Amino acid sequence: MKCGRGALVVLEGVDRAGKTTQCKELVRELQRSGRAAEMMRFPDRTTMIGQLISSYLEKKSDLEDHTVHLLFSANRWELVPEMKQKLEKGISLVVDRYAFSGVAFTSAKPGFGLEWCKSPDVGLPKPDLVMFLQLPPSVAAARGEFGTERYETSVFQQAVQSKFDQLMEDPTVNWQVIDAARSVEEVHKDIKQFAMNTINAVEKQPIGDLWK
Ligand code: TMP
Repeated sequence: MKCGRGALVVLEGVDRAGKTTQCKELVRELQRSGRAAEMMRFPDRTTMIGQLISSYLEKKSDLEDHTVHLLFSANRWELVPEMKQKLEKGISLVVDRYAFSGVAFTSAKPGFGLEWCKSPDVGLPKPDLVMFLQLPPSVAAARGEFGTERYETSVFQQAVQSKFDQLMEDPTVNWQVIDAARSVEEVHKDIKQFAMNTINAVEKQPIGDLWK
């Protein structure tokens, strides 16, 4: 019998919640247990579009707010063929940020509504599971200073958190909130469990369309 498809698993959360560490740990663990898994991250700064985004984030260039929002979305769309190919081959993808970051960060800027922000990402491969690493601002602050990239201020991050809260009210997305204030090992244990359950559950299901 042909083996089933891989799962699309996304980790979201505010800065310093430990997304990147947990994505790497999860991929390692899935591979150790004999499952095909790969990590991806958005923005993917290696493509031409990704380089425009990276330069904007590093404050080396300025871009108009709508424009940069559409570039973040285009950066996801340009990787869709590769993502679908991998999922169909049975490789599970563990993704560090996705369209939810796209919507939460832009809609935290003045003058941007949630619906406008969602529209360019409508129809992307729908994640089978989105784990939101929740971290109280006081714990985040204790993890050290923010970096120097655009968006790395506590006022903006709080606005982003409240946009994530709104996005998490959407029952069409399989959200799981993870308490990220615990040790790396404890957080990993939960993430691994949710991911394994999802990988087993979606094997024979088609890939969905996000926000459609
Ligand atoms: P990271 O590479 O450290 O994860 O940071 C990327 C930054 O870009 C982070 O501040 C979140 C932001 N972002 C957006 O504004 N829109 C998006 O679509 C994505 C994926 C990230």
